[in-house]
Amino acid sequence: MRHPRLLSWVRDIALRSRPERVVWCDGSQEEYERLCATMVASGTLRKLNPAKRPDSYLAWSHPSDVARVEDRTFICSEREEDAGPTNNWVAPDAMRATLDKLFDGCMRGRTMYVVPFSMGPLGSPIAHIGIEITDSPYVAASMRLMTRMGRAVFDVLGSDGVFVPCVHSVGAPLASGERDVAWPCNAEHKYIVHFPETREIWSYGSGYGGNALLGKKCFALRIASVMGRDQGWLAEHMLILGVTAPDGYKTYVSAAFPSACGKTNFAMLIPPHGLDGWKVTTIGDDIAWIKPHADGRFHAINPEAGYFGVAPGTSYESNPNAMETLKRDVIFTNVALTDDGDVWWEGMTKEPPAHLTDWQGQSWSPGCGRKAAHPNSRFTVAATRCPSLDSQWDNPDGVPISAFIFGARRSDTVPLVVEAASWEEGVYKAATMGSETTAAAAGKVGQVRRDPFAMLPFCGYHIGDYFSHWLAMGKAVESPPRIFNVNWFRTDPDGKFAWPGFGQNMRVLKWIVERCRGQAHAVQTPLGLQPEYDDLDWRGLNYGPERFQLVMSVDGSQWKSELHAHDELFAKLGAKQPAALSQQRRELGARFAG
Ligand code: GTP
Ligand code: SPV
Ligand code: MN
Repeated sequence: MRHPRLLSWVRDIALRSRPERVVWCDGSQEEYERLCATMVASGTLRKLNPAKRPDSYLAWSHPSDVARVEDRTFICSEREEDAGPTNNWVAPDAMRATLDKLFDGCMRGRTMYVVPFSMGPLGSPIAHIGIEITDSPYVAASMRLMTRMGRAVFDVLGSDGVFVPCVHSVGAPLASGERDVAWPCNAEHKYIVHFPETREIWSYGSGYGGNALLGKKCFALRIASVMGRDQGWLAEHMLILGVTAPDGYKTYVSAAFPSACGKTNFAMLIPPHGLDGWKVTTIGDDIAWIKPHADGRFHAINPEAGYFGVAPGTSYESNPNAMETLKRDVIFTNVALTDDGDVWWEGMTKEPPAHLTDWQGQSWSPGCGRKAAHPNSRFTVAATRCPSLDSQWDNPDGVPISAFIFGARRSDTVPLVVEAASWEEGVYKAATMGSETTAAAAGKVGQVRRDPFAMLPFCGYHIGDYFSHWLAMGKAVESPPRIFNVNWFRTDPDGKFAWPGFGQNMRVLKWIVERCRGQAHAVQTPLGLQPEYDDLDWRGLNYGPERFQLVMSVDGSQWKSELHAHDELFAKLGAKQPAALSQQRRELGARFAG
């Protein structure tokens, strides 16, 4: 490693944070096993029964550290207006002073790991490199599953290559001789900080998920969205999947749903009985980097190399590919432990086991009134374990995207599927999307909030500028993708999901793909282009026109309040409100008035 800037940065962080030792990670299997063994010895990990779940581990976090902390996440741009109305802003100088204090000696008694990683295939023109410094072996091991991590990154960097510096500490220094706890973190102070101009990330106080695996939301979305704005590309909270039709034609689509709203499920979908000739393959389940390609289309890569997926609700019924992916080589976090050393979570089997140890280490039995797994419990596993992995998942050139799909979690108002008549109309709908909050972020669950492009917690700059960027990107390629909206979460009068979802979502995906190929019919409604009952393929499913009406209906009075919520969002944008979106708002209003 001969990269003076990198070396002096590592030296500087070590001088400030005072770790007991510094370890440069090489990304090898031996190193991964060593990290896991260290964590088993310290009580951070429990090794699962090798007969049931080979080479797999279970971590239970501190109850105060179970999800992303959006109110502790900061975009510290030079100017407040560049962070915009949807981000927390602190002036860079003030934040640096705070970080100076927090990081002073914060790694005492711990090992500081230097983790080199590439987001995207090593050396791909779409990829970018990061180095994470962390005092958490859990983070170092997770980064090996989630990214292309290791020594080869230094070869790409050479002596002066560009990298995004990512500094992470759990914020729990150990006094000399002090015994460590199983999940060190700082219950009082958490800071997830981004400096967009200097492309730096500083994270303090949490060891969990997007707070700590800094390649993911911090780099691949918040910092990368700024890079995309400046360089003419898109960093999005999107899955990428391939659909192969019975005639062999393959279409790639990318879909944005908010956290815990079904991206992993959709990305690994298995077509249901009746649509047997169709096939879905997986490129990514959470993040897409999308760049204009010389062929006149957008090409997308998955910058990640693994899945950090929601465990609850994952079963052989809802997502068989995920269950197969999880058979071995997994780190589970905050799921329950079975008496024979395996894992369980709500929804994994119809009947829960008679006895478990819950995610807080307490004895659990059905009917005890507590959840066995935390609602935001997760699995961490390499993409290469996924049976539906697409042959092109590692292609440095990316895959050409034919459709963008935007989904939300809405029990009412928003229909099962609608296609936008134009790029501008699609951008308007993505911008004004509302969704019910989930356990993926700390805070209240089930409240509808505007979540533009499923990027509310992840856009690293002013959301109005982000809308303008999307409008402009529609002109950056000759053939921009079509834009669709979906909602798998409408409920019936009994409060049950009115759409069967999961594999049955293939019926909607098939219509979308056929629309892209000019093969499917749609009617114009006030909302856009929608399928009629006979436009969807119902072979193998008993789902009548009345049920269809329940998930497709567009209610004028509900849309009146919906449009009011759009206006509340736009009111925050002020002068940054793009004229094209004001125009779309007027046209939509007129269609509902008429
Ligand atoms: P992040 O990893 O947080 O970004 O989320 P994700 O979008 O990948 O979430 P995931 O696919 O793990 O979604 C998990 C939740 O969505 C679980 O509660 C699932 O049961 C639910 N879910 C997924 N697909 C469907 C569906 O088609 N219908 C219904 N009703 N629920 C679904
Ligand atoms: C999300 O919350 O959208 C996630 C999980 O994908 S985390 O990595 O914790 O952000
Ligand atoms: Mn996500």
